Amino acid sequence: MSDSSVILGLESSCDETAASIVRGGREVLSSVVASQHDLHAKFGGVVPEIASRAHIERVLPAINEALADADVALDDLNAIAVGNRPGLIGALLVAVSAAKALSWSLGKPLVGVDHVRAHLYAAALDAESIEYPALGLVVSGGHTSLYKVTSPTEMTLLGRTIDDAVGEAYDKTAAILELGFPGGPIVDRLAQQGDADSVKLPRTLLDRDSLDFSFSGLKTAVLYHVRGQPQGRGRSATFARDASILSESDKANVTASFQRAVCDVLVTKLERALDRMVKSGEPAKSIVIGGGVSANSAVRTRVTELGEARNLAVRLPPMAYCVDNAAMIAGLAHHQLLVGDTADLTLEAAATTRV
Ligand code: KG4
Ligand code: ZN
Repeated sequence: MSDSSVILGLESSCDETAASIVRGGREVLSSVVASQHDLHAKFGGVVPEIASRAHIERVLPAINEALADADVALDDLNAIAVGNRPGLIGALLVAVSAAKALSWSLGKPLVGVDHVRAHLYAAALDAESIEYPALGLVVSGGHTSLYKVTSPTEMTLLGRTIDDAVGEAYDKTAAILELGFPGGPIVDRLAQQGDADSVKLPRTLLDRDSLDFSFSGLKTAVLYHVRGQPQGRGRSATFARDASILSESDKANVTASFQRAVCDVLVTKLERALDRMVKSGEPAKSIVIGGGVSANSAVRTRVTELGEARNLAVRLPPMAYCVDNAAMIAGLAHHQLLVGDTADLTLEAAATTRV
């Protein structure tokens, strides 16, 4: 496979139908993302069956648009790549089936890409290569994990959330405050007008050396702060009040305090992991982050400051490649092709990540 391979990437793991053409693993020729947020907003979360149906309607138009934007013909492609894990099975199957059909009919190689690994590659798109070994942090709606990353295709898990993912905590905080869905970008914007010291919220760090995360306590603390202590337990619990009694500035203060707590935890875990890599004799040369929450303004600032303090390069994805997209899939597929990691037509969709 040449260094200037042209790859079509497809992605349909959750509620974005995406197609992209990437040349040489880094040059994004086109990136189409058809979001379904409007279809799921009234349910306050992604409804898997609705997502699958919408992917079916949108996948072929997305592919055609990606080819047209890049001015590339199907015959020009060197391979077809698809995010085949992790995600909602019914949703993943749409892009996997489309990619198999294209690979088979065109006689081009098929590459199955892990979505979580692809998030850690997004920072290399339209940018310099990442310096390895790197400390990688994936912060998305489904994952919060730390990795020692030794190449685009090789990484070892160092720690992960034992309950909620960070993006999930953002979305739930937005739901508690009745701000809308998906909550991350709304909380990010509102937090900029709030006082981050105004509401006392917990930072759950687990054991002294732990590289795992836990965000369910933080989410529950936000819930009790906004709605008061519940009467009763579980689904039958009732609350004395709801977010309607809060002013805009009260809500801004809650979001700012929540965001500060999230950033404090992420930075502490990154520091621990950097120290762990130094101790193991393989110090990180850079910090790479990816996933929807890497679009967060406070996360970007705090991780950049950490890099400056430690004299390490920090690699943040361009904003367009933080949330789900197919450019990261086509980009990483280039490196998988270089090491011969291709799939055949038995490629399956899987709910869980490989790492
Ligand atoms: O990576 P992604 O698009 O999908 C998954 O792989 O899960 O991440 C989506 C998550 C959602 O929870 C969304 O609320 C969050 O990323 N998100 C943000 C921001 N933009 C998206 N969270 C905080 N601040 C943002 N600016
Ligand atoms: Zn994602």
